[in-house]
Amino acid sequence: MNQVVATTELNTVFEECLILKQELIDGLCAKEKYINPKFFYDEMGSQLFEKIMQLPEYYPSRTEMSLLEKYKHEIAEALGENIVLIEPGAGNCEKVQCILQTLKPKCYMPIDISAGFLFECARKLQTKFPFIKIHAVADDMKAKVEIPDAFKNNNKVIFYPGSTIGNYKPNEALDFLEHVKDLVGKGGGLLIGVDLQKDKEILDAAYNDEHGITALFNLNALKHANKLLDCKIDTNLFEHVAFYNEDQCRIEMHLESKTEHAYNIDNVSRVCFSEFERIHTEYSYKYTIESFSNMAEKAGLKLEKYWIDDNELFSVQYYKVG
Ligand SMILES: C[S@@+](CC[C@H](N)C(=O)[O-])C[C@H]1O[C@@H](n2cnc3c(N)ncnc32)[C@H](O)[C@@H]1O
Repeated sequence: MNQVVATTELNTVFEECLILKQELIDGLCAKEKYINPKFFYDEMGSQLFEKIMQLPEYYPSRTEMSLLEKYKHEIAEALGENIVLIEPGAGNCEKVQCILQTLKPKCYMPIDISAGFLFECARKLQTKFPFIKIHAVADDMKAKVEIPDAFKNNNKVIFYPGSTIGNYKPNEALDFLEHVKDLVGKGGGLLIGVDLQKDKEILDAAYNDEHGITALFNLNALKHANKLLDCKIDTNLFEHVAFYNEDQCRIEMHLESKTEHAYNIDNVSRVCFSEFERIHTEYSYKYTIESFSNMAEKAGLKLEKYWIDDNELFSVQYYKVG
């Protein structure tokens, strides 16, 4: 019996690996090349992102944490008691710690694709908060979430900080918000961090730090792709490019090829890069309170309350299914 389960799990891991490889190959062979931002995150990518969060230029994490800390009592009151708090893309589970003590959810479920990093963070969190059930899930955040039986009837709230929603194009963001609404159902909610539109200079600086950590993070997507595809694309032949596109209200990150070069992948596909050709790696859309709440409303989520800092850099918003 155990053996059957193990074989099934192995097959699933193998199939998932094939899907990820195909996703990478499709992106690298596309007319306009891209790598999905989820490929930033292996062990190294998660560590680099932790460093980014400490950078003086990178205002989002700092500002969001100060909002969560400052307004934790108002947030706890809005979200209510005995909830199940689910965090897709939880990373190092740092931000949730600003509100856990005050909110005291029955269960906290961090979800992340960077499995090793996630389980280590969840283990430390369980020691720190023994009165909360910590139930970590290593999976894609769009996968179906199984709530533990003991908490199936509790109200559910998705915690989605970091303006990770900004990584989606607006139509994809709407799909994700609809997925959230279906997941939490009646009585459920969404506590979300949303980065706000602001001066181009502040935004450009935030994604082009002087120590080059964001550049390393960006290049890590390609290093991770090399590992998964078992190939040797020369990452030294690429440059980090990031800028705010004011027309589209988004940061764009790319890896720009410095020269012409080509590689065989999987004995089947050939990937060719020309000089100055770019691989798109990330968008980070910036919103106003109004533009974001209008989109959420289309997904069936009603803005209950929001909090912003004095410099109007970042927002934390609370929505209810309604
Ligand atoms: C920008 S970090 C944000 C971390 C944290 N939520 C915060 O605000 O500090 C994004 C996190 O999402 C995870 N992630 C990215 N794509 C994912 C996906 N498709 N499914 C699950 N997790 C994902 C990454 O591993 C990473 O830890």
